[in-house]
Amino acid sequence: MSDLSQRKSDHLRLAVEGDVGFRQRSALLECVDLVHNALPELAVEEVDLSAQVMGKTLRAPLLIAGMTGGTVQAGRINKELASVAEELGIAFGLGSQRAMLKDPKAAPSYAVRSEAPKALVFGNIGMVQAAQMSSTALLDLARAVGVDALCVHLNPAMELIQADGDRDFRGGEDLFRRLTAELPFPVMAKETGCGISAQVASRLVACGVRHVDVSGAGGTSWVAVETQRAEGQRKALGEQFWDWGIPTAASVALLAPLGFRTLCATGGVSNGLQVAKALALGAHLCGVARPVLQALEHGGRAAAVDHLRQIELELRTAMVLVGARDVATLRSVPRVIRGELREWLTQLS
Ligand code: FNR
Repeated sequence: MSDLSQRKSDHLRLAVEGDVGFRQRSALLECVDLVHNALPELAVEEVDLSAQVMGKTLRAPLLIAGMTGGTVQAGRINKELASVAEELGIAFGLGSQRAMLKDPKAAPSYAVRSEAPKALVFGNIGMVQAAQMSSTALLDLARAVGVDALCVHLNPAMELIQADGDRDFRGGEDLFRRLTAELPFPVMAKETGCGISAQVASRLVACGVRHVDVSGAGGTSWVAVETQRAEGQRKALGEQFWDWGIPTAASVALLAPLGFRTLCATGGVSNGLQVAKALALGAHLCGVARPVLQALEHGGRAAAVDHLRQIELELRTAMVLVGARDVATLRSVPRVIRGELREWLTQLS
């Protein structure tokens, strides 16, 4: 097995079974209270969960966030989760497509259009790899799997813990300027569990980026994943930085005023009340990664469907209880911000 394939299968094993959650840090969605509406004047069935994202209509504002690709196991997971996204009318993200750049034989593990012909599907590539590629090569990478948009992931914390990870993160702004000008589909800047600050988001906006996934701290810690794989000095380094990152709720609230066309809240979002809170903070879409993978791997495709349907039920319930008929209304309901989230927002605004 190649180093890359070994890493991918380690990631899946650790994400399903390992101790890879944040320890002291949460997404801080528990610091958001939505205000109860005792007189909602709504019937449950008239609540509209649909959302317009990148020109497609989703049946609910949910994304199965990008996780994997490149191995036989990864291909099976991508196909099953893409078919779940298609059935539920939600979005689906592929994991990093680096493996198919290195070895064309890996390409079928990303080929999900037969399972998800209509779903909103995101491609995925790391910023450091993308910076070394021409825009035409990136266009080909996206077209090879027929994606609607390309996520360019930012993961400096994880790379710094990984023994053979990237160490040079220059060239990101040039890359985003180039891709937003030259690619004929949306480019989404996506973190991988450490969040995006308002300052970084403003720099992304200046580079033409209109779509962002904060992928904040509070769910899966990628520093933790690499710490579990590391040895010696790198393992000790990872222990120190295990909880590094901006909590998802803080990142979403800080970015909401910046006018992104798509503001996606991923990172520690695993139930429908959390989704409702993230939307009320200004997100358009919420991504779930590890909890859906765990449901799939422990209970099969039906368990992944059940997990996401439960999130939808909880979201619908929250919408009735705040009197929000649709997602646009939910994005402007009153909310109370408490405790540590308040500190993040007042210190940083
Ligand atoms: C990921 N994530 C990820 N992100 C990305 O942009 N490219 C990738 O290749 C991967 N790979 C990957 C593998 C596995 C097994 C998991 C669980 C996650 C990160 C993911 O999209 C998300 O940003 C974080 O995991 C935070 O979300 P959760 O897990 O807290 O819901």
